[in-house]
Amino acid sequence: MYLDGSIVPYSDANIHAFSGVVKYGCGVFEGLRGYRSASGNLLVFRLGEHIERLRFGMKVMRYEAIISASEIEHATTAMLRANELREDVHIRVIAYLGGDDALHQRGPVGLIAGALPRPSRGVGGGAHVAVSSWLRIADSALPPRVKCTGNYVNNRAAEIDAFDSGFDGVLMLTADGKLSEASGACVFLVRDGRLVTPDVGSDILESITRDTVLRLAEELTGRPAVERRVDRSELYAAEEAFLCGSGQEILPILSVDRLPVGDGGPGPITRALQERYFAIVRGDDPAFRDWLTAVWEG
Ligand SMILES: Cc1ncc(COP(=O)(O)O)c(C=O)c1O
Repeated sequence: MYLDGSIVPYSDANIHAFSGVVKYGCGVFEGLRGYRSASGNLLVFRLGEHIERLRFGMKVMRYEAIISASEIEHATTAMLRANELREDVHIRVIAYLGGDDALHQRGPVGLIAGALPRPSRGVGGGAHVAVSSWLRIADSALPPRVKCTGNYVNNRAAEIDAFDSGFDGVLMLTADGKLSEASGACVFLVRDGRLVTPDVGSDILESITRDTVLRLAEELTGRPAVERRVDRSELYAAEEAFLCGSGQEILPILSVDRLPVGDGGPGPITRALQERYFAIVRGDDPAFRDWLTAVWEG
């Protein structure tokens, strides 16, 4: 792993037990994927956008120093090369506050990057999800657009509750009862053949995969996607629905609250989107080459 400027063995990537991130949950993090290309390279998807979101998080969390984009990129790619990784991976990058100071501390700022092999889910499968009784945290208290470690207490509560009840995933509502997002992904519906997703004011993480889907929407459906407030019951009325996120990729939602979505299988727009997405992330579409960072030369 990369830890504060060095590559260290996984078991040695330690920080102090009294660090600010442990006591106060004030870390910011990213989850990314790298994909093996046809030529055997490893391609990190939209690394630049993940780095900028991490840096935005450090700013909003008032870190005394914002780690440069070049250091974060170096940490990520050097760690992947040190592990000689060429297969599909899941990557974690965390900026954290060390020290053991007061609640208002702003430093010292540290950086961690690590990866584990994790095959793409690919096409096939889907999720049976529930709407949680845990509401999504609000921008006025813990802004979900900041990918702050402490925020995930909310996501964890909802996910545990849903998993214990036999669901594969969970959706959360805003304090005023509108659809927000899943515990680790954003959500899209298809209504009247058109892609619909909760707007950025619906207490969501401004997801990079969501942005990817928005950019592909017109090509896939003939019309741009609609970003708006979404009612819970629209989930039950949708022709199709899917989760999207770096980790979840494009995952069809098969049912919500035990009600089938559409005919209960992945819909045609979702399937077409999956095909487009997996071609893009593996480097098979030259039009989207700018979104890919090759870890190996040649
Ligand atoms: C709460 C939440 N929403 C959405 C997403 C999807 O974001 P992205 O597409 O940038 O990975 C994630 C995953 O990181 C998440 O944790």
